[in-house]
Amino acid sequence: MQDRRIVSGQAAAEEDNLDMTIRPLILDEYIGQDKVKANISIFITAAKERGESLDHVLLSGPPGLGKTTLANIVANEIGKPIRKTSGPAIERPGDLAAIITNLEPGEILFIDEIHRLNRSVEEIMYPAMEDFVIDIIIGKGPGARTLRLDLPPFTLIGATTRPGLLSSPLRDRFGITCRLDFYTIEDLSTIIHRAAHILKIEIDNKGAFEIARRSRGTPRVANRLLRRVADYALVKGDGRITDELAVMALEMMEIDNLGLDNLDILILESIIGKFAGGPVGLETLAASVSEETDTISDVYEPYLLKLGLIQKTPRGRIATERAYKHLGLPVAGIKQDDLNFEME
Ligand code: ADE
Repeated sequence: MQDRRIVSGQAAAEEDNLDMTIRPLILDEYIGQDKVKANISIFITAAKERGESLDHVLLSGPPGLGKTTLANIVANEIGKPIRKTSGPAIERPGDLAAIITNLEPGEILFIDEIHRLNRSVEEIMYPAMEDFVIDIIIGKGPGARTLRLDLPPFTLIGATTRPGLLSSPLRDRFGITCRLDFYTIEDLSTIIHRAAHILKIEIDNKGAFEIARRSRGTPRVANRLLRRVADYALVKGDGRITDELAVMALEMMEIDNLGLDNLDILILESIIGKFAGGPVGLETLAASVSEETDTISDVYEPYLLKLGLIQKTPRGRIATERAYKHLGLPVAGIKQDDLNFEME
């Protein structure tokens, strides 16, 4: 299910067009993720020098950090076309066979949510990735035959929010793995200035900083908030985004000074109020705030963990001292036993 919150890292369908106009097209324009950029740049240059296709790349990290953008940039830098699909869209082995037998040599195949490929599709992916061959089964029962087809060399770029759910044979076949991390406020400010320039929005440094620090370390959220605050500036101000205006707009949208919205707050309040600070299991927690388990684990939890507002323990999630303080509650509820644990 698509998450419609303004601070969600997931893309809304109508955002795609606008995103296209502000997305960086080359590595030099891509802000942040310096280690990932440095590595990818070397691998691209080496592949080009050898005249070979780039090794398969696995990009992991929370939604909205730029995995698709990076895949587009790799294709651009290599000078090859990119074909995009997603794990859930490839239902049967035949669907994948139809795609990969039609690739151009060196083409990039981008599979979003690759952890959601089903087993039978995954299995034909192994020889395709390793030896550029595909085994197609023709017919059924005792008369069935296997036909081996050669494929053009191609590069698979897989994107996932849940690398732990990838089977190890699939994970092992990626020569390059990159983990995207939440962006710093400084990098997000630069991203906001860049987008504002392209969209002809006037914004000062403090205004950009205010939006950046409430963007959950996520460029997609930063760009979305920029557009909403620009609307506010147009209607309530003179069109310019200053820090004062940004604060007013963001408060009106009920996004607090850490970028938390009312659902994040509900999650924290629930752990503290209903489960005595935790530990509480993911599914129980999701049910208590009427959200899907995957949405909590992929979208909300990573940022609450990053901020140190919750911790994962072997027995479930607990609210930290920082969470109590953020909600203005006395810290007495925290049990030391829950904080002194060894992760499994
Ligand atoms: N827009 C979204 N992500 C970006 C990034 N990393 N750099 C520049 N612009 C972006």
